Order: sequence, then structure tokens, then C-alpha cells
Amino acid sequence: MTSNTGLAGRRYVVTGSASGIGASTTALLRDRGAEVIGCDIDDAEITADLSTPEGRSSLVDRVHGYGSIDAVLAIAGGGRTGLLETNYFGAVATLQGLRPLLARSPAPRAVAVSSTASLAPADDRIVQACLDGDEAAAVGLLAADSSAGGETGGYGIAKRALNRWVRRVAPTAEWAGSGIALNIVAPGVVDTPAAAWILGDDEVRRAVENTAPQPFGGFPGRPEWIAELLCWLSSPDNRFVTGQVVFADGGSEAALLGDRHWR
Ligand SMILES: NC(=O)c1ccc[n+]([C@@H]2O[C@H](COP(=O)([O-])OP(=O)(O)OC[C@H]3O[C@@H](n4cnc5c(N)ncnc54)[C@H](O)[C@@H]3O)[C@@H](O)[C@H]2O)c1
Repeated sequence: MTSNTGLAGRRYVVTGSASGIGASTTALLRDRGAEVIGCDIDDAEITADLSTPEGRSSLVDRVHGYGSIDAVLAIAGGGRTGLLETNYFGAVATLQGLRPLLARSPAPRAVAVSSTASLAPADDRIVQACLDGDEAAAVGLLAADSSAGGETGGYGIAKRALNRWVRRVAPTAEWAGSGIALNIVAPGVVDTPAAAWILGDDEVRRAVENTAPQPFGGFPGRPEWIAELLCWLSSPDNRFVTGQVVFADGGSEAALLGDRHWR
């Protein structure tokens, strides 16, 4: 890791800062001179459970107490708390709730972390309920039908909806029109506690590696590699990239979808 002070004077909010990709990103940002307000269930400057409305409001209120921010990285996710509640509604509430404060920065940037799981077939009714902001309906639909969540139990649905929400709002007046770049980073399998269920079982690991190969960089990837991309997308150096879902997955998305990417 190269140390420099290129981000001195910038203040970042990083959710999921206590572990994995969030912890790596926090370390990298601090190494480059940024101030980081970490948020996590525990072991962070702000402790809040983003799967609940109370936790989300508490994060937004506490961050407003700092007065100004320059970037928001909504990284908290995985399966520790409710899948839709954390991975979609928690991330969106973080970004929406902090957007007005962010808009006052001279170089405001935001990034949310999704997943290659967003590529899996997803129940459109639940994706739509997420996009409609109807948390009770989305959670209810998932709970009512054990097969509705697909292979990932609803995690992929949450990440699919998050990709769509970001693409929908990023070019609007509220975001791009306010000078805020808003992007998604969608990692493949990365060596963090969230992937322990894959990496700790040889059979599961082989199955996942076969169905979603990562021909560049290897299987699994490293959290530091994702951190580098998050750091750049949320830096003032990012002058022209917004509304993108950037797959940081060793080529998995390209291998799976091939050249069918464009309409
Ligand atoms: N590791 C992978 O293979 C992988 C792949 C694709 C996407 N991701 C995504 O990357 C992001 C970071 O995950 P990671 O791999 O670093 O896992 P991790 O488990 O190491 O870190 C996730 C962090 O989020 C926090 N968190 C979870 N639920 C929360 C809640 N309700 N409120 C506040 N904080 C909460 C956890 O406490 C933890 O510190 C997640 O959004 C995850 O879905 C990970």
C-alpha cells in the first residue's frame, strides 16, 4: 500500500467499517489522509444496526452532528442481519439520508457495494417492492415464499434492487445535478468473513468457483483490491464516472454474460 496524503481534508462515512472490505477501505482512506467516520453494529465511531429504521435514522442524525462530509461508502451488508433490510433498505437509507449533507461538499462522491449475486435470477415482485420503498411488502413477499429468494435466499434480490436504484437515481438532478457521483461496486468472491461459508467448505468452494469463475486475479479476491476501486470512485479524481455498476470480480461477470451486455 502506497502512503500519501492525497485525501487530506476529506471526510468519509464508511458503513460496515469493522470488517472485511469496509475495514480495508477505512484503512486505505486513512492511510491517504482522509478522516473516516466508521459505522457498524459494533466496533465503530457510530454504532447502528442499519437493518432497522431506528438504526438508519441514528446514523443519519449522528453524521449530521459532524457538520460536513465529502463521501459516503455504503458497504455494510451480507447475511448477519435481514437480507433485504440490510443490503437494500439500509444502503438506500444511508445514501438518501446523507445526500443533502453530501451535496454541500466541493467534490461529493458516493458508492454502494453490491455483488455478482445481483446477476442471479431475481423475483421481480420483490425487486419492485424494494424500488417502491415498501419494506414491509418486500420482506413479507420473501417470508411468504421460501423459494422466492432463489439460490441466495434474497441476498441477490437485494443487491439487484440496489444496482437498479443507483442506476435510476444517479443521473437525476438530486445526484448528478448536485455534482454527486454515485456508483456501485459489485465484488465477486472476496476473502472476508462474509465469504467464510463458501471458502470454508471445499465442496461449496469448488461449486462456486466452477459456476462463477474468476479468471483474473484468482479465487477468492482480496478486500484490499476492492478498497482501491472504492477509494478511487469516491475521490475527487473521479470526474466523469457515475451511475455505473462496476464488477470487481476477476472477470466473472464477463465470463458469465459474455458480449450480451448491451441492448
Ligand atoms: N466477501 C465477499 O465475497 C463479497 C462478495 C460480494 C459482495 N460483498 C459485499 O461486500 C460488503 C462487505 O462485506 P464483507 O465481505 O467485507 O463482509 P464482512 O462480514 O467482513 O463485513 C461486513 C460488515 O458489515 C457489517 N454489517 C452487517 N450488517 C450490518 C447492519 N445491519 N448494520 C451495520 N453494519 C452491518 C458487519 O458487522 C461487518 O462489519 C457487503 O455489502 C457484502 O454483501 C462481499
